[in-house]
Amino acid sequence: MTMALFSSNIFVLTFGVLLVVGVIVQGAEARAFFVFGDSLVDSGNNNYLATTARADSPPYGIDYPTRRPTGRFSNGLNIPDLISQKLGAESVLPYLSPQLRGDKLLIGANFASAGIGILNDTGAQFLNIIRMYRQFEYFQEYQQRVTSQIGVAQTKTLVNKALVLITVGGNDFVNNYYLVPYSARSRQYSLPDYVKFLIIEYRKLLQKLYDLGARRVLVTGTGPLGCVPAELAMRGTNGGCSDELQRAASLFNPQLLHMLQGLNKKIGKNVFIAANTGEMHNNFVNNPAAYGFATSKVACCGQGPYNGLGLCTPLSNLCPNRNLYAFWDPFHPSEKANKLIVEQIMSGSKRYMNPMNLSTILALDARA
Ligand SMILES: *[C@@H]1O[C@H](CO)[C@@H](O)[C@H](O)[C@H]1NC(C)=O
Ligand SMILES: *[C@@H]1O[C@H](CO)[C@@H](O)[C@H](O)[C@H]1NC(C)=O
Repeated sequence: MTMALFSSNIFVLTFGVLLVVGVIVQGAEARAFFVFGDSLVDSGNNNYLATTARADSPPYGIDYPTRRPTGRFSNGLNIPDLISQKLGAESVLPYLSPQLRGDKLLIGANFASAGIGILNDTGAQFLNIIRMYRQFEYFQEYQQRVTSQIGVAQTKTLVNKALVLITVGGNDFVNNYYLVPYSARSRQYSLPDYVKFLIIEYRKLLQKLYDLGARRVLVTGTGPLGCVPAELAMRGTNGGCSDELQRAASLFNPQLLHMLQGLNKKIGKNVFIAANTGEMHNNFVNNPAAYGFATSKVACCGQGPYNGLGLCTPLSNLCPNRNLYAFWDPFHPSEKANKLIVEQIMSGSKRYMNPMNLSTILALDARA
């Protein structure tokens, strides 16, 4: 599977009734949240699809409130869940979930699908996944459904005021350019030219997202692609990261930032916010102990060197304490790592969040 790169509800039974009432009251005020992208942010859409890119069997979800797999590529919560918490809202449901109807629609929706990339040909081996253009079609369909519930004007306001998260790009390397030696894309493009091509295509996607009404969009870069347990196992040299994939990430991330700055300039507003998740992740890859991790090289769940080969399944090695591992499976961060990333998204300096962090965005937009 290897859907994405390094990578990637809150229930209180006793107070369930109180909680539900609270959410409904608050639901009218809290801003909606929309999520697009790959497995780092998929909360279960692929459960409803005929694809091999899925996380719906144990031990996925072992630390989730229900202790059961949900389709999240995490032992517990994923990045969208933790951002919802910061918004004071409940987690947004996968768009394909039958439970996403009525008032739940007004909280937002998650359109992400494990395995997808910026390019249509990325993740072809996973067969039936929701590619970016299709995620946007679903977003349009979502808006039609909400319109029939609350009308055109209120729907437009809900979408314009929403927070949006998009995480995509890692698979264009791992599950396309570098998937097999002499891949079609690697014969077509040198790495620097491929990165330029990806950035041009990504820009078109973000422009489309803007055209569909998004006005505050967190855009994450790729993680340290060459340092995930899967790449340490398959390509790493002497326990080091894969130079080639690290080079890909180091070309991609700065050009992404530059592209976002250009888009904001063209629009005349800071619509797109770059989240330097690669840099956040590098910190704990380079110094795991400083963040309370016993290792940032070995995955908690997997097999082979670094637990980096194959999938995380009920037969895999499983670590007893997930909080000591930066990586949950060969490609995806643990819940603990996700928490550290979301803390930086919330309150990180310009080095991590450009031009501003989420707490600044929330303060600004509350005044608007
Ligand atoms: C991806 O596929 C969609 C739907 O077929 C198409 O509209 C779009 O142009 C394609 N993108 C690229 C870069 O080929
Ligand atoms: C968020 O960003 C602002 C502006 O860069 C910075 O002053 C602040 O320290 C950051 N953190 C928080 C919690 O606001």
